[in-house]
Amino acid sequence: MRFRPELKTRFIVWVGAALLLFAAGCAKHGDPARGRQVFNSTCDACHAASSQVNRGGPGLAGLYKREKLPNGNAINDRNVDQWIRNGNQHMLGYKNQISEEQMRNLIAYLRTL
Ligand code: HEC
Repeated sequence: MRFRPELKTRFIVWVGAALLLFAAGCAKHGDPARGRQVFNSTCDACHAASSQVNRGGPGLAGLYKREKLPNGNAINDRNVDQWIRNGNQHMLGYKNQISEEQMRNLIAYLRTL
C-alpha cells in the first residue's frame, strides 16, 4: 500500500480537535481547586466553607442543598453567579474583582461545599 501523508494530517487534526474540546469542557465546568483559592482570598473573611456558622455572612456548607438565596432566587449556578456579581444591601457584588474564569472556578468550588 502506498503511504498517504493526508491520513497523517487528518489524524493530527482530529487529535488536536479532541484536545481543544477537552480543554473547552474543563474551562466551562471550572476547577474547584482553583475556585477554593479564590474563595480563600476573597470570601473566607465573611463565609465559613465547612460550617453554617455566621462570621459576618452565613456559613456556606451545604449551599446547594438550600432552597433559596437571600434575594429569593433558587440556588443554581446562574443565580449564584448573579448573586456573587451583584450582591445585595448586605454583601458587596464582586463583578469588578473576579474574572469570568475565576467565577467559573469559584462556583465549581461552591458546589462541593
Ligand atoms: C464583607 C463580608 C462578605 C464577603 C467578603 C462576602 N460575602 Fe457573601 N454574604 C455576606 C452577607 C452579609 C450575606 C447575607 C446577605 C443577606 O442575608 O441578605 C452573604 C450571602 C452570601 C450568599 C448567600 C448565602 C445563603 O445562605 O443563601 C452567598 C452564596 C455568598 N454570600 C457568597 C459569597 C462569595 C462567593 C464571596 C466571595 C466572592 C462572598 N460571598 C464574599 C457577606 C460577605
